[in-house]
Amino acid sequence: MLPDADTLPEILLDLAVPHQDINDLVALRRTVTADTGVVRLLEECVEELIRDIGEVGVEVPLHERVAEAPAALGPYFTVYVFVAALPHTRAYHRERGVTADVSRRTLADLGRNMAFHRRRHGTGGVEVPQWLTHHFRGELYQLGRLQFERARLGRRTGRAVAVTGLEAMPAEPCLNLHIPDFYGSLSPAACDRSLDLAREFFARCFPHERYRVAVCHSWLLDPQLKRHLDPDSNIVRFQERFEPGRDAGEEPEPADTEPVRFVFGDPDLPVGGLPRRTSVERAVGDHLRAGGHWYIGHGWFPL
Ligand SMILES: CC(C)(COP(=O)(O)OP(=O)(O)OC[C@H]1O[C@@H](n2cnc3c(N)ncnc32)[C@H](O)[C@@H]1OP(=O)(O)O)[C@@H](O)C(=O)NCCC(=O)NCCS
Repeated sequence: MLPDADTLPEILLDLAVPHQDINDLVALRRTVTADTGVVRLLEECVEELIRDIGEVGVEVPLHERVAEAPAALGPYFTVYVFVAALPHTRAYHRERGVTADVSRRTLADLGRNMAFHRRRHGTGGVEVPQWLTHHFRGELYQLGRLQFERARLGRRTGRAVAVTGLEAMPAEPCLNLHIPDFYGSLSPAACDRSLDLAREFFARCFPHERYRVAVCHSWLLDPQLKRHLDPDSNIVRFQERFEPGRDAGEEPEPADTEPVRFVFGDPDLPVGGLPRRTSVERAVGDHLRAGGHWYIGHGWFPL
């Protein structure tokens, strides 16, 4: 089920697993393989993860299952699940004509998530196991600067699309955009390139799904950021690509920890001590210290 101890490091490197974690993962491999109960749990997790691989919108409760692993494996158990699932994901990618480069850069988000975990907790582990189920199930692809998740248009965004005259079918396929961390700036040219790559990629690899609309749900689309940032900043220019994805009258839920998580690396940091080195850091912290809230912004644009 798992690659042998000599092969494991190169597979971990392909998944961009941070160097600091590799020796521990190779050493702990025996703790997994020597215990039939753990091997069974691993097999069940992989089986649940890849069941109906490629199907959109299937929720796999991976975070609940990995919590059943022995404490000695700690948050590393999730890594073995993804490593054991890898041959299935790669086979699915090959079947769809996903190139080896796109496949590798997509699945390297495992290492990015582990870097996020280390930045926040100072230890090895996967920060959000659930997030990576999309990658390993063939739903999400990194194409240049952005990640594109095959998704279905929600009721509210569908209504917002329909208002503009573009006929939106309920639950029609759409691409949900994500902006990975640890990837430099979000320049308009990098986004344009990424969108061009996506148009070609999805037409070629998923010709039976017609993607007419891109959507995004992110703290980066909170319109209040415009009040704090330079109009030429990449974040404001990114916002300008989007049409509003919600009715103006709709009451949003505060999501103050979202920008704190993505700007400072830890959603639980006390607001009083947040640094003020860049304009986004000042915007996020000053607004919260003044008693304001941040919200998830929702947007869409035609592809
Ligand atoms: C999205 C992202 C790439 C934008 O960075 P960018 O291209 O530099 O954005 P801008 O040009 O708008 O930045 C404006 C200013 O804010 C700073 N800034 C932007 N993002 C920052 C961040 N995450 N942390 C600290 N400072 C940041 C920039 O350095 C710049 O500072 P300055 O005006 O003092 O020189 C960056 O915020 C990032 O990597 N975020 C993490 C990923 C994320 O949030 N994804 C969305 C998840 S829902």
